[in-house]
Amino acid sequence: MILRLLLSILCFISGTLSEESPYVTIVVKGSDRVAETDDSFVCATLDWWPPQKCNYNQCPWGQSSLLNLDLTHPVLSNAIQAFEHLRIRIGGSLQDQVVYGVPTLGHPCLPFSKMSGGLFGFSEGCLSMSRWDKLNLLFQRTGAIITFGLNALNGRHPAQNGMWVGNWNSTNARDFIKYTISRGYPVDSWEFGNELSGSGVSARVSAEQYAKDLIGLKTLLRELYKNSRMRPLLVAPGGFFDQKWYTQLLQTSGRGVVNALTHHIYNLGPGDDYRIESKILDPRYLSRITDTFRNLQLTIERHGPWSSAWVGEAGGAYNSGSRRVSNKFLDSFWYLDQLGMASKYNTKAYCRQTLIGGNYGLLDTNTLTPNPDYYSALLWHRLMGKGVLSIDISGSSYLRAYAHCRKGKASLYC
Ligand SMILES: *[C@@H]1O[C@H](CO)[C@@H](O)[C@H](O)[C@H]1NC(C)=O
Repeated sequence: MILRLLLSILCFISGTLSEESPYVTIVVKGSDRVAETDDSFVCATLDWWPPQKCNYNQCPWGQSSLLNLDLTHPVLSNAIQAFEHLRIRIGGSLQDQVVYGVPTLGHPCLPFSKMSGGLFGFSEGCLSMSRWDKLNLLFQRTGAIITFGLNALNGRHPAQNGMWVGNWNSTNARDFIKYTISRGYPVDSWEFGNELSGSGVSARVSAEQYAKDLIGLKTLLRELYKNSRMRPLLVAPGGFFDQKWYTQLLQTSGRGVVNALTHHIYNLGPGDDYRIESKILDPRYLSRITDTFRNLQLTIERHGPWSSAWVGEAGGAYNSGSRRVSNKFLDSFWYLDQLGMASKYNTKAYCRQTLIGGNYGLLDTNTLTPNPDYYSALLWHRLMGKGVLSIDISGSSYLRAYAHCRKGKASLYC
């Protein structure tokens, strides 16, 4: 019998390899499906960062923002189209300072500008509806599946220690979603907020308050989409996993409200860390993050079986990535291992920060040339199916292997 499965094998060449056995045994249990991903598992992000965003004396965003990217560039369209249906998650740090330029906005629709005292050092920024039209033209032309991250701080105000309090003001989001529906733009999922969970990054919101606003947003979506054939998902909170906070969010929002729990992964540390290369080549280091995947899976099984796990944003190294590593061949040892690991723990989507922008783009920010990780993403997407199979490896910790059913081919077990 020919097993319709595919093996993804990563071998880490390392100085300590000599201590390990030259023989390895891999046992794949073709009849044992341990998890299932989604058709649009491979996903990439587009971010809001303006050209003035800098880290470590470099400003690696250029013209790669949702607000200034050249949407007519043929390489961009081809790169998206190659996936047939690439999930694109729209969001990032400035997401909770974005307002939508609908007629009811009440003030001019202006881009982000540097502002001391502003969250992440920037002012509010506005997405004009003409820019939203142009973005959707690209998405529709290329078959992209869109997850849009909404501003979840609108109407709240800062209290102390980064905690933001008060109810979410849905007025601007409501008018934006209404406009989106009226134009027939097929947003697949609406995400609520960015990195506001747990202890937050720049700001945080309590799980109780967040849950209350999610119930409101769910109601709003049901009402706005009442006469539409589309039934977009509601996903949240797009932050770092915090077991207590995520549990509370599920318990307080209740059955059927949140369709997917999104979380972010930056397990390689800051982009200027001189140890990034050695971290990527150390399987024990890479394995540390399995606890996060496992605990999120358990949290969902126990407290929210109606929901599923998504990695909403993962760039490896934070602060715009590492110029030495994130856009190089070596990075795929981190990235492919992440795709395999996330799949094993029943993750349905894995959004790579970024499709373009910063030092971690699948496409180079300035030239749009595909980086090695672009091809890793495309290969994974084309070959690895939804069914994740059980696999045992013995002999070397430097060999990682993942087995999936073959993409798009049904067989006895797959
Ligand atoms: C919500 O925001 C709108 C402006 O976008 C404002 O007119 C309205 O008063 C706000 N609602 C509340 C409850 O603050």
